[in-house]
Amino acid sequence: MQIEAVSTRPFEGQRPGTSGLRKKVKVFQQAHYLENFVQSVFDSIGDFAGQTLVVGGDGRYYNREAIQTILKMAAANGFSKVLVGQGGILSTPAASCVIRKYNAYGGLILSASHNPAGPDDDFGIKYNIANGGPAPEAVTEAIYARTQNISYYDIIECPDVDLDHTGSFELVGMQVEVIDAVADYAELMQSLFDFNAIRDLLAGDFSRVFDAMHAVTGPYAKVILEDMLGAADGTVINGEPKEDFGGGHPDPNLTYAHELVDILYGEDAPDFGAASDGDGDRNMILGNHFFVTPSDSLAVMAANAQLVPGYASGISGVARSMPTSAAADRVAESLGLDCYETPTGWKFFGNLMDAGRVTLCGEESFGTGSDHVREKDGLWAVLFWLNILAVRKESVKSILTDHWKKFGRNYYSRHDYEGVDSAAATQVLQNVRDQFTSLPGTRMAGRRVASCDDFAYTDPVDGSISENQGVRILFEDGSRIIFRLSGTGTSGATIRVYLESYEPDSSRHGLDAQDALADMIEAAGEVSQLQKLTGRDKPTVIT
Ligand code: G1P
Ligand code: ZN
Repeated sequence: MQIEAVSTRPFEGQRPGTSGLRKKVKVFQQAHYLENFVQSVFDSIGDFAGQTLVVGGDGRYYNREAIQTILKMAAANGFSKVLVGQGGILSTPAASCVIRKYNAYGGLILSASHNPAGPDDDFGIKYNIANGGPAPEAVTEAIYARTQNISYYDIIECPDVDLDHTGSFELVGMQVEVIDAVADYAELMQSLFDFNAIRDLLAGDFSRVFDAMHAVTGPYAKVILEDMLGAADGTVINGEPKEDFGGGHPDPNLTYAHELVDILYGEDAPDFGAASDGDGDRNMILGNHFFVTPSDSLAVMAANAQLVPGYASGISGVARSMPTSAAADRVAESLGLDCYETPTGWKFFGNLMDAGRVTLCGEESFGTGSDHVREKDGLWAVLFWLNILAVRKESVKSILTDHWKKFGRNYYSRHDYEGVDSAAATQVLQNVRDQFTSLPGTRMAGRRVASCDDFAYTDPVDGSISENQGVRILFEDGSRIIFRLSGTGTSGATIRVYLESYEPDSSRHGLDAQDALADMIEAAGEVSQLQKLTGRDKPTVIT
């Protein structure tokens, strides 16, 4: 059946080229809205006749309704098979795993990541290609262009199907297979990590807690940590996924994962704590009274990869997003590996991984991953750490202090100013840009400025160029101040200020990064006039 796609324009108000569509549930609930986006995807991805599509989401409000629509549209558009996670669930890394494992043509992932969920909050959808990663810009731009002139969509008329039981059935000529949402992913984890060593660690006096934040990783963590690895019941907290994520904001950072932070910084704190986000691709790692920055986490993983079976034969290279601290660069250098600096966003890592240039990659925004899938992977990072801890039998803190002794320490912090006026935010960056020629050679925060620029990236694999990826002040001693506007916020603008100072002698400062960075933080405010322009005297979130 063809339905006229009245004039909803799914991308209105959102920058083209972003890898998916993220809007309020109420916007998605408008007649034909989701359908227009899905048809625009199907019209833009080439010939999939006879092919398989993977569908699943983070279980947030509207997940089930959206999946019913997608199944009916996939059948009408000529897919021969859809693999859908039981209950409509697939974490983002699990969806990537399933696309790759079953050679699917692509997948539709339903999530707005860590954004709050519920009838008045956010929903999202994105298309991933056959390598399991987010669609590249050429595809997302084609999808965007199609949304601008789409006039009808194809859908079959039939009752809703049962997503709650695994099994296979036919939907008007298309096969629908409801698969166990966890099994394929768990099997992949087992192939990478030393489950016996981790089981021994967890059977001993090593105490730990994993916070699933009422989001999608609950079932994954329970099966892998508790059932397969024998961690005592109760290791996974907030493990029941809820459609509104329990009213919380499942973003694993020091602000939003405060329940976990309180446990790890409280009396009788456990040895290890970790959390993942709404759709399971982010991670936060904590030790007893100790926070591991994601930038350091990537560096520690690279330095200890030989302890993990899946990486023991060597890693091919490391990549980090530009604002991520250069801690991993120092490890790569000492191991003689290539280290790539990419723009913010996971999609840039995909090309490097497909070309075999990098094995590990990460972002400061609590995203870490490897070439086992083409998304960042929260539980994978937790298991990587548990594997390291199981082999080294040291505390998280001692692993980090040892790392800093060897490589020096990149003190690092990100200050976010959320929901600020867009014009003010643009002006903050422009203020710095206006000083690009006058700053080099001067001293700021006790250091000499080496250069300033707008970060641009040429993809070494396909030669594509991405410009204006962040305003940078680079210092002679390797320190950096970076200003960027968020591409994912849904209300107003978000300014991110990234602060990094390199200290070869890590014993010179105390442990606290905010203290060590105090003069950089002040300099960043002065040079940009951020506080004056935005009317904010402090950041919304500090990580
Ligand atoms: C944020 C993070 C970025 C990450 C993205 C998607 O984007 O900063 O590293 O890839 O979410 O999870 P931003 O809002 O900064 O554009
Ligand atoms: Zn996420």
